[in-house]
Amino acid sequence: MRVYLDHNATTPLRDEVVETMTGVLRDTFGNPSSTHEEGQAARRAVDHARESVAALLGVGAGDVLFTGGATESNNTVLLGMLPALAGDKRHIVSSVGEHPSVEAPLEVLERRGWRVTRVGIDADGLLDPAEVAASIEPDTALVSIIWANNETGVVQPIARIAELARERGVLMHTDATQAVGKVSVDIADMPVDLLSLTGHKLNAPKGIGCLLVRESIAFSGILHGGPQERGRRGGTENVACIAGLGAACELAIGELPERATLYAQLRDRLWDGIAAKVPNIARNGSETRVLPNTLNVEFAGAAGELLLQALDVEGVAVSSGAACHSGSIEPSAVLVAMGRTPEQARGSLRLSVGHGNDDSQIDRVLAILPDLVRRARSAE
Ligand SMILES: Cc1ncc(COP(=O)(O)O)c(C=O)c1O
Repeated sequence: MRVYLDHNATTPLRDEVVETMTGVLRDTFGNPSSTHEEGQAARRAVDHARESVAALLGVGAGDVLFTGGATESNNTVLLGMLPALAGDKRHIVSSVGEHPSVEAPLEVLERRGWRVTRVGIDADGLLDPAEVAASIEPDTALVSIIWANNETGVVQPIARIAELARERGVLMHTDATQAVGKVSVDIADMPVDLLSLTGHKLNAPKGIGCLLVRESIAFSGILHGGPQERGRRGGTENVACIAGLGAACELAIGELPERATLYAQLRDRLWDGIAAKVPNIARNGSETRVLPNTLNVEFAGAAGELLLQALDVEGVAVSSGAACHSGSIEPSAVLVAMGRTPEQARGSLRLSVGHGNDDSQIDRVLAILPDLVRRARSAE
């Protein structure tokens, strides 16, 4: 029996999502742009999903633009919309804790002459909204801050940051990829202008996501082509995946906040067990301002990669650093930004729970972990 504790890397599809998608793949093959019944059936499937995503986020359906995932959403904001919207402005405020799909486009912009202020994070992984506000300059075009970090799960004070950006007349973008489906990401009353998410972190498929763009904001995309998505993203819609994302959002609407409570119980059972059974460990990141499913633990003196492999052999999937970086021995940049030494960062593992996990799985991990940590430490 495998125990999958890597839900921040990706999540299994829910049965309801598979059923919705299978139905669409089999029966709803039309092109949503076609005016005949086959096409209009596909159009209805896309429209229905758009309503579901919008309902989860507390926005209007017209604000939802389907994309190929959060990487595309983040690139669309930074490399598509921003250059078109910014006029003479050439400055962005972001943070040292962003996902590479924000950080890499920021570096592209820097090479094109933009300036980026990356606000730091403290030992708990939190940034100070006042520092974000103080970093805003007369030519700041955008504030882009991650909602919750993929490695530590630390949740930033996005509502406050968005208010401060709005007061200063600056657009606010947040990459909410890790938060959506785990905690409430209802931005009905939040001055967030742009928000990115991806389906596969909330039990929908990979390769589908969305960018929320308030209708008041002039849009400029990066995929030019047909009139799809009201001309904002050319390319025939991925109808089945869009329907799958919609179904996952409907599940999230029905299950939050019970889902968050369950995840937190499992995560806390794991942490309490580790703390009781394994010496010389420390938790990375705030214990209160954190996603309910995420635990990042430093096993002092053990190589995280070795421990990850040993756990995998025993049937347990976890992650060291960000999943996109696994295989690389670079210490996690986020942990280093929180003041951990490269050695401490390399000794850290991310354990993220989700749908399908239960107490017995957590107990199985706790039964094997102390010995594996002992062995990983003595292998150093
Ligand atoms: C915070 C965050 N942003 C963006 C992404 C990119 O999502 P995708 O690979 O689906 O485009 C991820 C996925 O790892 C993420 O965790």
